[in-house]
Amino acid sequence: MSGAAGRYVHGYRSAEARRLRDQAAALEELIHAGTVYTAGSAVLEVGCGVGAQTVALAGRHPAARITAVDISAVSLAQARARVAAAGLGNVEFLQADIHALPFAAASFDHIFVCFVLEHLPDPAFALSLLKPLLRPRGTITVVEGDHGSAYFHPDSEAGRAVIACQVELQRRRGGDALLGRRLYPLLRQAGLAGVSVEPRLVYVDGSRPGLAEAFTRNTFAAMVAGIGEAAIAEGLIEPERFAAGIEALCRACEPDAVFCYTFFKAVAACADADHDGARLAVGAGIDAPQAPGSRLRASTDPAIRHACPRMHRIRRITAGAPARCR
Ligand SMILES: C[S@@+](CC[C@H](N)C(=O)[O-])C[C@H]1O[C@@H](n2cnc3c(N)ncnc32)[C@H](O)[C@@H]1O
Repeated sequence: MSGAAGRYVHGYRSAEARRLRDQAAALEELIHAGTVYTAGSAVLEVGCGVGAQTVALAGRHPAARITAVDISAVSLAQARARVAAAGLGNVEFLQADIHALPFAAASFDHIFVCFVLEHLPDPAFALSLLKPLLRPRGTITVVEGDHGSAYFHPDSEAGRAVIACQVELQRRRGGDALLGRRLYPLLRQAGLAGVSVEPRLVYVDGSRPGLAEAFTRNTFAAMVAGIGEAAIAEGLIEPERFAAGIEALCRACEPDAVFCYTFFKAVAACADADHDGARLAVGAGIDAPQAPGSRLRASTDPAIRHACPRMHRIRRITAGAPARCR
């Protein structure tokens, strides 16, 4: 596997697919509460993975039309099967890179992005590519974690060390495991308006044994355990210390223990003032370089510039075209 999919820190093993499903089930209310997509609206889910959030999105909004995209064909096949097994008929799937989505401007009423930006080398740039896909008054919802927000009792140096390995490994792959705290500035930087960010806390103690299993053990500890091989191979930690760290995270599932973690849910919109009758045309037949005066900026990340030749095929057309969100 090469490119962005090859850099993806969690990988595509079956244990990770199971973890994503456990995570979505444990956090469904936390992630989706407050999100309402009305009948007939067109919703783009970017980075749908194995469809763990897709079934929640499609099931909670049966009269919306969901287009779910991921860079991984393997994950998409699982997502398709999962959505079919749930009897949901309002989802279409597509394999694509977030940096080269094949949609015309103003194609969607809403965009939903969950646990994806943290894996991208230039998340503000990715957001700036998503923004033109929104229709006037469209919204984008972004959900991200922040591993710096994890703390637990009993405290453990080894437990903190394995979380630090996850953060460092993700950084080496071009991502940012502490991205949740950056959502507000990132969305503003991408030119989105009306940005509102809500921290959503997961607090687990002995009175919530189900959540301790589902979140602390099967979501969080399982995620960190999943990077063990790579962290050890890259010399970040000794095998014994890694095992002790995972044991400490699992210890936080016991009835006398506590685990805390904060997710961040952001919602932003296109400003009405942005809709000036201009249109952004992408792709087929438009091979001119980006026109002077366009507000789209090129990514500063060389890997993205390389992976995103489409940026060189974008230009603004200003005469008499439909509104869109630049
Ligand atoms: C942690 S998973 C989250 C999946 C899903 N959103 C969820 O919450 O269960 C991140 C997903 O982003 C996808 N991804 C990573 N980089 C991508 C890119 N450049 N374009 C599209 N998808 C990408 C990965 O393949 C993976 O399926």
